[in-house]
Amino acid sequence: MGLLDAHCRELIESAMDAIIVVDDAHRVVLFNRSAERTFGVPAADALGGGLDRFMPERYRGSHAGQMRAFAASRVTRRSMGMLGTIAGLRADGSEFPMEASISHFEVEGRTHLAVILRDISERRRLESQLLQAQKMEVVGRLAGGIAHDFNNMLMAMFNFLALATRELPEGHAARGSIAQAIAAGERAADLTRRLLTFSRKRAPAPGAVSVREVVRGLEPMLRRVIAEDVRIRVALSPDVGNALADTGQLEQVLMNLVINARDAMPGGGTLTIEARNQALDEDYCRTLVGVSPGEYVMLAVTDTGVGMTPEVRAQIFEPFFTTKEPGKGTGLGLATSLGIVRGVGGHIAVSSEPGAGTSVKVFLPRVDGGVAARGVARDAGVVPHGSETVLVVEDEPTIREQVAQALREAGYRVLLAGDGVDALVVAGAHAGEVHALVTAVVLPGMSGIRLAQELATTRPRLAVVFMSGYPAESIEARGIDPSTCEFVSKPFAMDDLLRRLRAAIDRRRAK
Ligand SMILES: Nc1ncnc2c1ncn2[C@@H]1O[C@H](COP(=O)(O)OP(=O)(O)OP(=O)(O)O)[C@@H](O)[C@H]1O
Ligand SMILES: [Mg+2]
Repeated sequence: MGLLDAHCRELIESAMDAIIVVDDAHRVVLFNRSAERTFGVPAADALGGGLDRFMPERYRGSHAGQMRAFAASRVTRRSMGMLGTIAGLRADGSEFPMEASISHFEVEGRTHLAVILRDISERRRLESQLLQAQKMEVVGRLAGGIAHDFNNMLMAMFNFLALATRELPEGHAARGSIAQAIAAGERAADLTRRLLTFSRKRAPAPGAVSVREVVRGLEPMLRRVIAEDVRIRVALSPDVGNALADTGQLEQVLMNLVINARDAMPGGGTLTIEARNQALDEDYCRTLVGVSPGEYVMLAVTDTGVGMTPEVRAQIFEPFFTTKEPGKGTGLGLATSLGIVRGVGGHIAVSSEPGAGTSVKVFLPRVDGGVAARGVARDAGVVPHGSETVLVVEDEPTIREQVAQALREAGYRVLLAGDGVDALVVAGAHAGEVHALVTAVVLPGMSGIRLAQELATTRPRLAVVFMSGYPAESIEARGIDPSTCEFVSKPFAMDDLLRRLRAAIDRRRAK
């Protein structure tokens, strides 16, 4: 009909947005390629028909009215986006949000309306992922803060309980109760550890980890936590590569998936653990935040359990979302796992159907090259002693006293201070050498880190041990090289502190 010349036609056909033109009888006279893609309708099918089939039934009346009003107006161009997002309808019956702009023009004395539509469902999805990430960040910070204070209290409890046991004669009836209290305290410490991981306040050390070894290593333990009526199938592809992960964190992720699967199969079933290499392509990654196309190691845990309704499925990554009875689940498992996996640029995909079971796939970036050394086993054995002078700085009096007592018992001379300024005064007034500083990181006023830097200006050989609920990572962030100091994370065992102190002093002396 000579509506447009060839160049214009080409431009329209290659546009990213759907472009539809209707004539004054509201029949479609132009339907570009993007419109075909967006609505799933071939142009040949759309031409000559009305616009109704592209919008959900409930909006047809109001849309038609708006179009007529617009055509009758003197305005030539308007963004319907100003009216909010409108709903589109695909040929397969699914609805999607779109932004629209509309314009009208005369051709051979007849009014035509051009509608330009943009499918924004993908953008919406990304926005909601971003929102979720921000929410996690806030809850994480909150949880981290609470866990930090909680750790201080737990530590005091542990140490007083240990003291109390020591004073009771062997076989005393109260020993059993104290042991129970310590066991309950350990569960509380475990919860704070989970909170700290969740808030990413524990220092992970991602490296090349053999997924095969992690699965094989956990297998005996998995068999123990899983009831006999659940069959376990492990399928590790022989060529499965190394994944970018922190071994401890990966174990935690796998453990939670397995326990979730177990809980979903109260009447028995089959639990499958699979690992294999898989590439994620551009198409797959487009709708995901922070995931780039490339080689991944996929670790999947599949069960034949109760499955999830779409409502539950939509919330499983929410922190504290759980359908388990109080005491059985905290709802942090998957939220934490997602944090961990995203932390290394990975991705978790979940498919589930009520009654048909669930499959959770964890994708971790594949790294070729050596396997990172496993974390150094905690050195057990004799607790080292010493006779050096140690300055202990901690604002929490019970912890300060307990640390001081442990150090004195181990032979050290102890100086005490409640904050950084106080510590500078105490150190300045001390006539002899101060060999080591044991300090909290977070202190009222001057931080433990500032204090360490300040003291080191006149004492270059000062050994430093930081005590904190936060990890070495945050120390690094604040400008201290973690290789020059030692670090204990609360709640810590006094023996651990003593070992680290000894190591710190010996290392400084060797220099
Ligand atoms: N394999 C599964 N089958 C069915 N539902 C599941 C499965 N995995 C997770 N869910 C659902 O997701 C919820 C959240 O799981 P998540 O691991 O985050 O927390 P939790 O297991 O309830 O508690 P936690 O892991 O902290 O002990 C579960 O309570 C359950 O409703
Ligand atoms: Mg769980």
